Amino acid sequence: MTQFNFDKHTTREGTYSVQYDGTEALFGQTGLAPFWIADMDIQTPEVIRDAIKARLDNGIFGYTMWQNERFYGPIKHWWKTRFNVELDNDNIHYAASVLYTVGEVIRQVTEEGDGVILTTPSYNSFPNLIKGNDRKIVESPLIYDAEVKEYFLDVEGFTKLCEDDSVTLYIHCNPHNPTGKVWSKTELETIKGICQDNNVYLISDEIHMDFVRPKEDFVSMVSLINENDPVLITTGLGKSFNLASLPHSYFLTKDRNITQDINKAMGGRYNVNTASSLALAAIEAAYNECGEWMDELNVYIEGNFKYISDYIDEHLADDLSFDIPKATYLGWISFEKSGLDADLVHKALVEIGGIAVSPGKLYLDHENKHFRFNAASPRYRIEDGLERIRKTFEQIK
Ligand SMILES: Cc1ncc(COP(=O)(O)O)c(C=O)c1O
Repeated sequence: MTQFNFDKHTTREGTYSVQYDGTEALFGQTGLAPFWIADMDIQTPEVIRDAIKARLDNGIFGYTMWQNERFYGPIKHWWKTRFNVELDNDNIHYAASVLYTVGEVIRQVTEEGDGVILTTPSYNSFPNLIKGNDRKIVESPLIYDAEVKEYFLDVEGFTKLCEDDSVTLYIHCNPHNPTGKVWSKTELETIKGICQDNNVYLISDEIHMDFVRPKEDFVSMVSLINENDPVLITTGLGKSFNLASLPHSYFLTKDRNITQDINKAMGGRYNVNTASSLALAAIEAAYNECGEWMDELNVYIEGNFKYISDYIDEHLADDLSFDIPKATYLGWISFEKSGLDADLVHKALVEIGGIAVSPGKLYLDHENKHFRFNAASPRYRIEDGLERIRKTFEQIK
């Protein structure tokens, strides 16, 4: 018996959602069926909405502190019960967003012109942040093993890049957006070792951590760090509970220097060191009470991916290939088989299909032979999206 209804339709038009109302910049038009940016067409759990309402009823939303047990407690509870990881208050820090934290670490641990490694394909905001801070993108292309249908780090190539003195930071993504790769403990140990041997700072962005199926397969970099290791883990509830517009995130580290530097910047430079009172109410309810919701949501998303995979096998096998990802709600779908020109495909998806999926080139997928399809929606939307894709490929052939 399932407790939660993920099939429910919720109107998002008119909420100024980027997913619906913000397609013009990237796709040249509005009114598309959107499956691109990483938020969900699934409501935040009722328990969280009730907690936000209760906080609203207080009626005062003045400056709010996060340095207290109502912030630390739920985070420690979640990590212990979900991932069997013990955290200490000392190692948990609030920050306005995951990307704020990544940007700040870039500014703190690298110099202008330094190289920052990304494993490509890469989540598109990382290259933007590197360029936006006048650092250099250094690519370590992941290797796709068609036999096991998985992406792997090119360990030799990655080591060589780290050995270059001008390379000072690696931004790791676990689970990996857009491929859905879940990194094993051995892979994480290898990466951490190479970075440390070469004085390359390591950020691990784990914002998709709650979408690992099964959840026991998730290994956080936090379980590998020792006192003062040059490693910082950043995460939040934006993806897990669809809270991206409530400013919040938190980072985990045992590096006292970076903690001090970031806290100094949040206080002195930007004055963003107090928390959103609504976000704190949401975190408390989510992390104390929403484990079962998260488990059921993952079952639902797995069902969506199975549907997508079966649909492709039945109707689009000549053009598309797709491996169900072990994590995230993002499908990384290849149209290499179709032999069609990438720009033509992306244009046709918009103009014929009326659908917004993220083009591979955003993720430094240089051949641009993939698109990223967001599967965190009620099933009827997934069915509609796939019909749009089918219509597109039928008409351009
Ligand atoms: C890997 C990754 N990191 C960070 C973010 C954004 O996090 P935030 O909104 O907290 O900056 C996203 C959103 O898609 C993401 O996929």
